[in-house]
Amino acid sequence: MAYFLGIDVGTTGSKSLLITEKGQVTASATVEYPMYTPQPQWAEQNPQDWWQATVESIRKVLTTSQVPPDQVMGVGLTGQMHGLVLLNKEGAVLRPCIMWNDQRTGPQCAWITERVGPQRVLQLTGNPVLPGFTAPKIIWVREHEPEIYEQVAKVLLPKDYIRYRLTGEFATEVSDASGTSLFDVGRRRWSQDMLEALDIPAEWLPECYESPVVSGYVSQAVAEVTGLKAGTPVVGGGGDQAAQAVGSGIIETGLISVTIGTSGVVFASTDEFVIEPEGRLHAFCHAVPGKWHLMGVMLSAGGSFRWFRDTLGQTEKEMASLLGQDPYELLTAEAASAPAGCEGLLFLPYLTGERTPYPDPNARGVFMGLTLRHDKRHLVRAVLEGVAYGLRDSLELMKNLGTEIHQVRASGGGARSELWRQILADVFDSELVVINVTEGAAYGAALLAGVGAGVYKDVAEACRQTIEVVQRTEPVPENTALYRELYPVYRTLYSALKPSFDQVSHIATKRAS
Ligand code: XUL
Repeated sequence: MAYFLGIDVGTTGSKSLLITEKGQVTASATVEYPMYTPQPQWAEQNPQDWWQATVESIRKVLTTSQVPPDQVMGVGLTGQMHGLVLLNKEGAVLRPCIMWNDQRTGPQCAWITERVGPQRVLQLTGNPVLPGFTAPKIIWVREHEPEIYEQVAKVLLPKDYIRYRLTGEFATEVSDASGTSLFDVGRRRWSQDMLEALDIPAEWLPECYESPVVSGYVSQAVAEVTGLKAGTPVVGGGGDQAAQAVGSGIIETGLISVTIGTSGVVFASTDEFVIEPEGRLHAFCHAVPGKWHLMGVMLSAGGSFRWFRDTLGQTEKEMASLLGQDPYELLTAEAASAPAGCEGLLFLPYLTGERTPYPDPNARGVFMGLTLRHDKRHLVRAVLEGVAYGLRDSLELMKNLGTEIHQVRASGGGARSELWRQILADVFDSELVVINVTEGAAYGAALLAGVGAGVYKDVAEACRQTIEVVQRTEPVPENTALYRELYPVYRTLYSALKPSFDQVSHIATKRAS
């Protein structure tokens, strides 16, 4: 039997997942590590922590499964995107990784955008320069830590640092490279124009492969510490969203995924390289050779529901612990007893600012339309509906670009709720399906390893052999009609409130400093 190993270098931990060629999960282990916030809005991690956690999680899956190492035919890497790992010429890490959720580089983004020109940045890289992306972090280090900058010999993304430790190779692949602001997404190669404009040496960047292509082999030294066989091929892999999409079978036009974790991601595979004219959707290479993807990211999707549970769900939390139940289930049952549309109550889910469709750190959460009739049941339901409207914003941007939507696949913690699934189907006015796989990005990375190892002909065959729809939710026409009237109202709220968002965030920041 052939097995494949997917490794996800995530934000909270490193996950190793071992699957069979039939797609069955044999073993999974996650080892956590800390995130540091040395200053407000900064987010850093220690690449050495990722490595130790990865070694430990690989050892765990090999030990618990008892799978002989020579049957592990390939390793696929995935992980948090956009992070900046800097190495010196000896290959030593020069400073902690500046992560995807670090917000320090506002001024550097503005500088890059002005220097290159907003339209040209969009043409060259497919996206505007955002604070989470990699290039502005390099510029930040050049400006603030020149003694580090002058030692830089290599720039890597998080999962690619793990590749370097596993194989000794400096390599990345097209989907993760797309989130650096240094990549020509349309031509699937580093952008010489961006590198020259920013005065960043091209030799700092790793070799860039297509995602299923073998990028190196597990070294003898690593074989000894992990239990893997020396010489096991390691494929390019993918950024976490592209790998998650492979692991959900989102590899052809018409299929869309909606993933509700803390954030909410809407992802569409495209056959052509398409840019949203205002850059409101990310346009990245897909982990499928010759394909691209469009992606909208909502920052507080499941995060909004968690906020509600933690601030207003104290009673449910206590009751749940007495009954041995999940507080989310109790809250969802309350929400289910409120009518669709919440009798005119709307919620804006911008609790941590927003990315799509409004890249605005000042955006705030709002309940609008409260009356004496409203009680807690309406409030919870409004949160679930508000997240669905926010996700629809990304779907609408995709539709405006001519993206076909035949099927929406829901995944992540939020998709476990039957009520939330129904609300999503009703708000999107589309069938919503759930698939058999719930392992996310690590699963997609393992499938890519299977392609690289030659066990599957291509990514499409890997998905066909392993992924199937197990549940369907149809929209209820009556609810859909109601949401069709309410969604335009939701749409007007952000622009109406934008000046107030700016004012309150200015006042609050002034007080805090
Ligand atoms: C994608 C993104 C996140 C991070 C962390 O653009 O920012 O998916 O990769 O999960």
